[in-house]
Amino acid sequence: MSSKPLAYILSTGMAVPKKVLTNHDLERMVETSDEWITERTGIKERHILEDGEVISTYAIEAGKACLSSAGVAPEEVDLIICATLTPDFLMPSLAILVQKGLKAERAGAFDLSATCSGFLYALAMANCVVAFKPSSKVLVIGAEALSRKTNWQDRSTCVLFGDGAGAVLVGRAQEGMNSGIIDFILGADGSNWELLTLKGGGSAFPPFDERLPKEDYYIKMQGREVFKVAVRMMEKVALELLERNNLNPEDIDLLIPHQANLRIIEYLRERLNLPKEKVMVNIHKYGNTSAASIPIALHEASLEGRLKRGDLVLMVSFGGGFTFAGVLMRW
Ligand code: ACO
Repeated sequence: MSSKPLAYILSTGMAVPKKVLTNHDLERMVETSDEWITERTGIKERHILEDGEVISTYAIEAGKACLSSAGVAPEEVDLIICATLTPDFLMPSLAILVQKGLKAERAGAFDLSATCSGFLYALAMANCVVAFKPSSKVLVIGAEALSRKTNWQDRSTCVLFGDGAGAVLVGRAQEGMNSGIIDFILGADGSNWELLTLKGGGSAFPPFDERLPKEDYYIKMQGREVFKVAVRMMEKVALELLERNNLNPEDIDLLIPHQANLRIIEYLRERLNLPKEKVMVNIHKYGNTSAASIPIALHEASLEGRLKRGDLVLMVSFGGGFTFAGVLMRW
């Protein structure tokens, strides 16, 4: 490990809506069963917004908790990056609403869209900002309201998603600290983009455009095909990051994968030959919260005492597009 000071995570925070939708609730909405959902995905329940609620409320709450845990005042934040594909509005951005909500008066703010890989993309950007300007404090938030883009009549997707927000504060580690981002991979492959889409509401098909079927205003997915892409990408990113840093899977203290499907996580765990205790899993409680899944998992891992300063942490994700990403760090 280099002694060079690196960008590291000072603190974490999270917030999810109070409303819980269980698999049994879904049994009353579509033709499905708790048994099918549990077996095929590992999900038992998910939190979703109540009617009238907005995801910025939770992004702000997660940001507040994160700053308070680091003892950093909102006016000390230089930049806010919100990874999301479901902001409250297209304009202003979610990050601007967070900037206002936190009263982070000095901070720049922008949204980053890279689907489920958005948080790791944003973390990599924060790393670059801190490397260029060492005194920077960057608040990185993954926040998602997928329930608002879910077709509640489509049983193949509506059982998967949940809403929530997770936040981390990124700053420069002190000289000699064994903490910080070591390396990252950001990748994309648009050749199969039609396997996972949310077409309606963009500029190709503005809202209420009658050329587009109603279902295309919601997330559409060819699940089995996406599954195959996901396992291939997650394994490739994980192995490449380890190999080019002369590390082996057994060096990992905690793997934090994007929480999309327990079977995808298990596949990756087996390929890396890791024991269960080295893999963070909380999909049973939240479902797939897209860009929020890794920061929520990080926060819970930290609360559960599963992260000690200096631990080797590998985070990997994939998402619609397709995007994929990995970040390797010492906690
Ligand atoms: N309840 C009961 N049966 C169901 C349900 C359901 N909720 N959904 C599908 N089925 C049925 C299908 O109709 C099919 O029936 P058939 O055999 O009679 O045709 C059968 O179950 C098997 O369907 P598959 O789609 O093959 O099931 P699979 O084991 O692949 O699981 C799943 C589906 C969970 C969607 C899986 O493919 C998956 O997790 N894929 C990856 C999804 C993902 O990770 N997406 C991430 C990106 S999300 C984002 O970016 C926002």
